[in-house]
Formats: sequence, structure tokens, C-alpha cells
Amino acid sequence: MPTIHYILKDGTTREVDAKIGASVMETAIRGNVRGIDAECGGCCSCATCHVYVDDAFADLLPPPDDMESALLDAVAAERRPHSRLSCQLSVTAAFDGLRVRIPETQA
Ligand code: FES
Repeated sequence: MPTIHYILKDGTTREVDAKIGASVMETAIRGNVRGIDAECGGCCSCATCHVYVDDAFADLLPPPDDMESALLDAVAAERRPHSRLSCQLSVTAAFDGLRVRIPETQA
């Protein structure tokens, strides 16, 4: 079972075991990770699941589609090169050890 590491606003890390096929957002919600509100439930319309993917894992992920990219342009926190909406990231076995940082504006 892959483990996802969520780096919180205070610098601490929460580790949550993920189910294959679940999203990184769903995994965070199941693990009660602070800062992932997911107000739209994962339908790519709220951007409250924004995360910064660690550089070491960025190449593992498929690029954002047009809808995700457009929403990332409107996120509250700064958009960075590895910004992603965690609801759009489906966990695979290759995600084991994935590190994502939650923007400071999402507390
Ligand atoms: S949960 Fe709303 S955009 Fe990801």
C-alpha cells in the first residue's frame, strides 16, 4: 500500500496509507489531513485541494489537463511549477513515498 507524505503548514509531516485508485485528495480526507478541504468533492471546481508536489516526484505524474490547469491559474496560493490539484492525482503503486506540501494559505 503506497504511503503519501503530506507536509503541513507548520512543517510537520502526516503519513497516510493510500488505496490504489483513490486520489491524493481522498487519501488526505480519509487521513484527516488539515488544509485539504476539497469543497467540491473532487469534481475539479474548487481548488481547495491544491498541493505542491515534491520535485523528486513531479516526473511520475501525468501533466494537468486543460481544466485542472485553468483552475490552478486561479488558486488562492501562488501557482508553482509543480502545483497540482490533489483530487486529480490517482494513486498508483509508484506513488509510494510521494511528498506533497500544502500551501500556507490552506490551513
Ligand atoms: S476537490 Fe475541488 S478541485 Fe479538487
